[in-house]
Amino acid sequence: MLAEIVLNIFNENFDTQAMLFRSPGRINLIGEHTDYNDGFVLPAAIDKAVYLAIAPAKGDYGRWISVDFGESIEVSRMQNLKISNDWANYLLGVIQEFRSAGFAIPAFDLVVAADIPIGAGMSSSAALECVMAYALNHFLHAGLDRKSLAFLTKRAENNFIGLQCGIMDMFASLHGKKNHVFRLDCRSLEYEYFPLHLNDYYFILLDTGVKHSLASSEYNTRREECAEGIATLKKFYPGLNSLRDVDHEMLNANKSAFDPLIFQRCAYVVEENNRVQLTCQALRDNDLATTGRMMFASHQGLKNQYQVSCAELDFLVDQVSEDPAVLGARMMGGGFGGCTINLVLKNQAAQLIEKISESYQAFSGIALKHYEVVTGEGTGEIKIQSLVQ
Ligand code: GLA
Repeated sequence: MLAEIVLNIFNENFDTQAMLFRSPGRINLIGEHTDYNDGFVLPAAIDKAVYLAIAPAKGDYGRWISVDFGESIEVSRMQNLKISNDWANYLLGVIQEFRSAGFAIPAFDLVVAADIPIGAGMSSSAALECVMAYALNHFLHAGLDRKSLAFLTKRAENNFIGLQCGIMDMFASLHGKKNHVFRLDCRSLEYEYFPLHLNDYYFILLDTGVKHSLASSEYNTRREECAEGIATLKKFYPGLNSLRDVDHEMLNANKSAFDPLIFQRCAYVVEENNRVQLTCQALRDNDLATTGRMMFASHQGLKNQYQVSCAELDFLVDQVSEDPAVLGARMMGGGFGGCTINLVLKNQAAQLIEKISESYQAFSGIALKHYEVVTGEGTGEIKIQSLVQ
């Protein structure tokens, strides 16, 4: 078990008493690129996580060990700029936010490892930020609740890493609940859990194995395009501040004022927010067929209107779209690579994966990886006694 491995490595390297924390990755059933538009998302935490063994160190320096990257580095408690070890920057970004909030930061010894696939769109970096924030909240007696920790880790990503992401990934990692997705209102941060009754179906992620380099620049561009859409509409609706409050009537009534590309982006966001609500109703009604249809429709919007998909993602969705064993499929996360999420009939899954692995290999030259989604609990401490048999 990874928690034990992390703790053992800590104990081999340090003679202090560590505490152990974990924070999970996430999936998103539907509601993509809506979080930074004050809209709705429907994520869940998964059973794959980042594990952190950590204790305050004496003096000004601590040692940070990444099991996954095979690196061990000395870090000053005063360090407040990026360093060349990418994984460590996610931790430093969180420390920097606590420092900005007025906390004195001691040095820390720590060991970190994850079983969330990196770069596959399951938010391993948000999980890393969340596990560090949760640990610091404890050691610094900061008393922050989970919502505040989600804001803090989002600021760490925005300010220190430089990606203008929304709140979904961090919020999902901190608030996940086994066997549930939850609808998050990204404006009020109210959320509601929906039990997943999948019966003979389950979610499978198909991993394109690619992450195109334009992912983060295009992400920030989409944010700007949405802001431009608001600026256009504000001329007609001065009180308007986000696409969350826009509907089709408002868009269509003012279509001629829009740059056509911006119109298309805004139409996508309006429709995707609607799809989240319809999916929630479908989950309440145990209507998996509608859930699946919403997923396919979301993909079409992401591909054609919002234009954040890529050939590999489209290929994987196309391959399953006519398959009776698949109720729905779409790209998941920011786009330009990563995984598709698929709602698949369990007893047909092995056959399906075999077929698609072959065609995907022929199409892209890449061996297809797949992950069965198992939902899990949000960020927390792992009591060390619970590991000792
Ligand atoms: C990335 C971001 C999230 C969200 C998604 C798209 O995962 O980190 O905030 O915007 O893309 O839905």
